[in-house]
Amino acid sequence: MLNLRDVCKKFGSNVVLDHVSLDVNKGDVVAILGPSGSGKTTLLRCAGYLTKADSGKLTLAGKEYDMNRISSKDLREYRKNVGFVFQNFNLYGNKTALGNVTLGLIVSQKMPKAQAEEIGKKLLERVGLADRMDYYPSKLSGGQQQRVAIARALATNPDVVFFDEPTSALDPELTGEVLTVIKQLADEGRTMIVVTHEMEFARKVATRVVFMEDGEIVEQNTAKEFFENPQKERTKEFIYKSSTWSTAASEDAAVEETV
Ligand SMILES: Nc1ncnc2c1ncn2[C@@H]1O[C@H](COP(=O)(O)OP(=O)(O)OP(=O)(O)O)[C@@H](O)[C@H]1O
Ligand SMILES: [Mg+2]
Repeated sequence: MLNLRDVCKKFGSNVVLDHVSLDVNKGDVVAILGPSGSGKTTLLRCAGYLTKADSGKLTLAGKEYDMNRISSKDLREYRKNVGFVFQNFNLYGNKTALGNVTLGLIVSQKMPKAQAEEIGKKLLERVGLADRMDYYPSKLSGGQQQRVAIARALATNPDVVFFDEPTSALDPELTGEVLTVIKQLADEGRTMIVVTHEMEFARKVATRVVFMEDGEIVEQNTAKEFFENPQKERTKEFIYKSSTWSTAASEDAAVEETV
């Protein structure tokens, strides 16, 4: 479905992606984990042509693209086939929820407004926002805004949806509602790549886990094998630290509840 081959990216002399290759099959939910600065966001941005890679090849649905250069025609076609959900939602403040979902269809895809709105309404219903279609982002909670962003990412019915830490700007309660929507998409067989620090989510929803450090993929495996039987010392340490951190966090929460 999606293959990335030898993606390289430097910022100045800082090597951020060092020959990263990744294969994503149809229906896969790939969780990308790794410490801060390991290159996760840069990899997604390069795969979305939001940042130009220095070199690398990408194949989507059988068609190959050069990650360093692309014609505007190919870019339009490629963008139609991928969806993006960012950490900070990136909604247009001057558009309603429905306006945000339909904008790309009307402007980039030249779809008639009525048809775009039909699609937009269905998608907003699917993410549980049937009663918020006419709201502007400033009148929506963070979780609702992120669900609008998910509906927007699905508007062109893309082959793959990329998520960059979709819940890291949300408090725990709102995190749950967004992760539930992503899990529903996974259950429907939607192919997704999710950069996340939510280990429980990766464990339960991802089919595969990719662990990055210093611009390289250190280990990748099925989610079950990755968590139950990590191979590399670095991966073991990361899983151990993350689990002790989340245990400590839930203990803190328990303490707060009892105070
Ligand atoms: N536009 C930029 N200009 C210069 N350096 C950048 C730029 N974007 C990212 N970097 C550097 O590239 C490296 C990887 O950054 P990236 O944002 O991909 O990491 P990340 O794994 O997503 O981290 P986090 O978990 O904190 O989001 C970092 O060292 C960062 O400082
Ligand atoms: Mg990041």
